[in-house]
Amino acid sequence: MSEKNHRVSRRQFLNYTLTGVGGFMAAGMLMPMVRFAIDPVLKAGVDQELVYVCEESELTTEPQRFDFKIEQVDAWYESEEPRSAWIFKSENGDVIALSPVCKHLGCTVNWASDEANPNRFFCPCHYGLYEKNGDNVPNTPPLAPLDVYTHKVEDGKVYLGSAKPKGEA
Ligand code: FES
Repeated sequence: MSEKNHRVSRRQFLNYTLTGVGGFMAAGMLMPMVRFAIDPVLKAGVDQELVYVCEESELTTEPQRFDFKIEQVDAWYESEEPRSAWIFKSENGDVIALSPVCKHLGCTVNWASDEANPNRFFCPCHYGLYEKNGDNVPNTPPLAPLDVYTHKVEDGKVYLGSAKPKGEA
């Protein structure tokens, strides 16, 4: 092969250089967009740290709403996010903590706020109903039970973690 074949013309050199610089800049712009798009997917599998919510002695067999905050770190931004849970004790003394987020379209459910259903959770947005244990009532809009918070009780204090679909918490 002659030496001539190895020579890169000025035009080729410029092409290679501009393609390289362009590719580098495009990657710089695309990476944050890709990360932004897949971040929620990655986060979904991350377990929320357990945070203190209430004293076990405050709990009864009647669901009560407790509001609390969790620390959220989103890349370089730290914030406190509000959360709520309906917490009660089952007949055998287990602590049950349910998410108030309706599984239909995400409104907030309330305990016993519908006069016709005094022992159920009620979602006012589209008349969704849930049993006390969080199971959705058939023939109302929600198609799944309320999410259940992972929890622990230590030294009489109740700590909650992530809200997960019933059966996974
Ligand atoms: S959002 Fe709760 S019933 Fe529709």
